[in-house]
Amino acid sequence: MNASLFDLQGRVALVTGAGANGGIGHAIALGLAQQGADIFVADVDEAGAAATVAEIHLLGRRAAMAVCDISCAEQVQALFAAVDRFFGRVDIHVNVPYAFPSRVHPDELSLEAWHQTLAVSLTGYFLCAQQALRRMLVQGEGVILNIGSIAGVSALGRGNFPYSVAKAGVAQLTRELAVEYAGKGIRVNAILPAQVLTPSFQKALLGDPRFGERLRERLLVGIPINRLLEPQDFVGPAVFLCSQAAGAVTGVLLPVDGGNLALNAGGSHSWPVD
Ligand SMILES: NC(=O)c1ccc[n+]([C@@H]2O[C@H](COP(=O)([O-])OP(=O)(O)OC[C@H]3O[C@@H](n4cnc5c(N)ncnc54)[C@H](O)[C@@H]3O)[C@@H](O)[C@H]2O)c1
Repeated sequence: MNASLFDLQGRVALVTGAGANGGIGHAIALGLAQQGADIFVADVDEAGAAATVAEIHLLGRRAAMAVCDISCAEQVQALFAAVDRFFGRVDIHVNVPYAFPSRVHPDELSLEAWHQTLAVSLTGYFLCAQQALRRMLVQGEGVILNIGSIAGVSALGRGNFPYSVAKAGVAQLTRELAVEYAGKGIRVNAILPAQVLTPSFQKALLGDPRFGERLRERLLVGIPINRLLEPQDFVGPAVFLCSQAAGAVTGVLLPVDGGNLALNAGGSHSWPVD
């Protein structure tokens, strides 16, 4: 295997949701930098974004950051203007953030929670992709990578309704953009995680006493590799999809789920005990 196929030197990657909080975006930003990419970090968490920048500097790559809420069109515009000023190009754009309202049954969901979830988890991806595409069209090449979820293709049935609908939107956003821009040198793919041991997941799900003690066990029933995923599991797939090794790969929804979708066991059909 030619290692240079995975080389990202000379590439500029913008990773949203890449604050240093132990999440998937954080791991991907560092992973792309380890392969040689320079990184622009965007996050609502200023201290987290600054910490990721410091980590990337230690890897010997160039890095900068901006605070940005991806659900706000003006902030997304300002983010890309900052990338223009600092790097003058964007070769790779990675969409990572999400919003998840408190778990309620769909018949009890407020319109506000619906809008807020879709604003970050879907509209934000569109706003960023649109800005990235405008630059990639001028450059004549580029890669967009979206973080979807198994929840976008398999129903979970545990109070995640607007999140799952948004993730289904991310899947179709990925396919549509891939086909629309396939002839322009731009590739668009998505990674679909199953349950990942990020701090936010641990707090939101494992830390929710309403799910009971056997939650981890129940989740593992749906993951044939018999372990929950780790943020580091996403580095290799992300590097592959962003690199020349995947030069003919576009419109793909790549499950990084330990076999969950193959088993078709995304849903536990279990509800927290109130
Ligand atoms: N953790 C899981 O089990 C799991 C499973 C399936 C899919 N995913 C997906 O993976 C992605 C990352 O999940 P994670 O668990 O690593 O999350 P995380 O909470 O650890 O990281 C998300 C980052 O996005 C930032 N962020 C939040 N809202 C933002 C906004 N509006 N604008 C900009 N930045 C914002 C946060 O500050 C944080 O740094 C998400 O798209 C999530 O839906 C995660």
